[in-house]
Amino acid sequence: MGKVSTSRLPKHIRSELRASHAGEFGAVWIYRGILCANLIRQDAQIKSFALQHLATEKSHLAGFAANIQRYRGSLLLFFWGIAGFVTGALPTLLGRNWMFYTIFCVESFVDEHYREQLKLFDHECNSFVRGFSQQMAAFHADETKHRDEALHAMTKQPSKAMRCWGRLIAYGSQWAVKAARLI
Ligand SMILES: [Fe+2]
Ligand SMILES: [Fe+2]
Repeated sequence: MGKVSTSRLPKHIRSELRASHAGEFGAVWIYRGILCANLIRQDAQIKSFALQHLATEKSHLAGFAANIQRYRGSLLLFFWGIAGFVTGALPTLLGRNWMFYTIFCVESFVDEHYREQLKLFDHECNSFVRGFSQQMAAFHADETKHRDEALHAMTKQPSKAMRCWGRLIAYGSQWAVKAARLI
């Protein structure tokens, strides 16, 4: 297949792909942040959880990166990386439940996000979009699995402080998607 012109994809589709590419990039850095903070904690459960999830997020990112010529990567990728790293590292320093709850909140957001995108892509007749949305449906299934794994790994109910942090994550993620669609 030759070089594909980005003009072939409708603008709103390119925006959505850019937002999800940025999200997967941020997700990779969340798990890198967790692993980095875990160098201090040395928690084997955190390490194996983060390594497994990191491998999945890397494969999601590769799926979007392989088609980057069809849209355009976010100009704020560096910032999404930092934001992801902090989102992973900070709760890990506070303990396992904090980290698992963070992943539960992030992946709950991602679940909704992919659900909406898949609904939108369902109405497209562009052949690339139709094919790629099948890959995205597989990514979506991974994200819900991640969310459930994080929830089941929690050993107690989230504290008030954790729920505040969770709301911050939800708000931040919404804002990030809006920004990454544009920039
Ligand atoms: Fe992902
Ligand atoms: Fe995920």
